[in-house]
Amino acid sequence: MCPFLIILCVFVHGIILTSACGDHPVKYVISKIYDGEYTLTEIEQNVITSLDHAYSIKLTIPVKKLCKGLLNITHLTRYLYINEGLEDIEPGVFEKQMIIEGFFFGNNRLKTIRKGTFENLLELNEIDLTYNEISVIEPGAFNNLTNLRILHLSKNKLTTLNPDSIINTPRLVTLNMNTNFLGKLKPKMFSFLAKDKAVDLSFSQNFLTDIHYKTFEDFDIIKFNISMNKLRSIPDVIAKNRNLELVDLSWNQLRNLPGEFFELKKLKNVVVHGNPLDCITLSKLRKLGHELNMNILLDSFC
Ligand SMILES: *[C@@H]1O[C@H](CO)[C@@H](O)[C@H](O)[C@H]1NC(C)=O
Ligand SMILES: *[C@@H]1O[C@H](CO)[C@@H](O)[C@H](O)[C@H]1NC(C)=O
Ligand SMILES: *[C@@H]1O[C@H](CO)[C@@H](O)[C@H](O)[C@H]1NC(C)=O
Repeated sequence: MCPFLIILCVFVHGIILTSACGDHPVKYVISKIYDGEYTLTEIEQNVITSLDHAYSIKLTIPVKKLCKGLLNITHLTRYLYINEGLEDIEPGVFEKQMIIEGFFFGNNRLKTIRKGTFENLLELNEIDLTYNEISVIEPGAFNNLTNLRILHLSKNKLTTLNPDSIINTPRLVTLNMNTNFLGKLKPKMFSFLAKDKAVDLSFSQNFLTDIHYKTFEDFDIIKFNISMNKLRSIPDVIAKNRNLELVDLSWNQLRNLPGEFFELKKLKNVVVHGNPLDCITLSKLRKLGHELNMNILLDSFC
């Protein structure tokens, strides 16, 4: 019994150790839109390939590791969806793959995004990594993504962001880091964001106690959501963004707002309830709400 078990164990172990990338069949669905017709094709094979006029590829059984050689996408394909079981992405796996619009990898178990994972993808527009377990984004993990506009990192385990994690993304305008463990926003942390375009930033539901006044210097912020944090103040520089339209500061510990805030002219949507704002600030906000005829959500204790 015992020797038999040992042999079995060595055998099973051997298979796991030697099982290389592309050794097992993967199941996926390719959607196509062609001549006004929408079709789905189910495929099961070891290497993921695409078809003419492919719109998206979606994996339908969990794959733990996206390893080099698993993809051979030679037909232009817009989107790649992997939404179950993914634990690791090997750098280089996307090299020369013809996926041009977006990667949707939400709802997986990624913990670390390794250096060079998202690199030189010159057409890619969007990367969605919502709902993973990411706590580490290595320096150069996102690099040379010259068309990337949207990055979703919400619902992960990030406590900070290394300023070198994301480099050369000159068109990145939408960053969502809601529901992480960020404590402080520091200078240069977001230097990868587009400088000459309006940016939309979301850090709702973190543990923010401090935003350094230099963090958002030189940006043109149009939407700013820092609801559900632990902020006692927001830096003046935020209110210097003349194009601000949406501001959600709800559920913090703010007593007042920077003077510049009341000079903003383009505000359309302001949410400030759940803060111990003083009466002067509340009445100034009400007045501003009237002047700009905007949506404003505030408590009315005074
Ligand atoms: C990838 O697919 C193309 C056909 O589209 C084929 O010619 C090529 O050999 C494949 N490459 C690998 C590495 O399997
Ligand atoms: C960005 O990627 C392109 C294509 O791979 C390459 O030609 C270019 O040198 C890269 N730029 C940098 C700064 O790495
Ligand atoms: C801010 O983000 C939270 C997500 O945590 C969302 O529920 C809320 O609607 C956002 N605020 C605005 C004004 O969009």
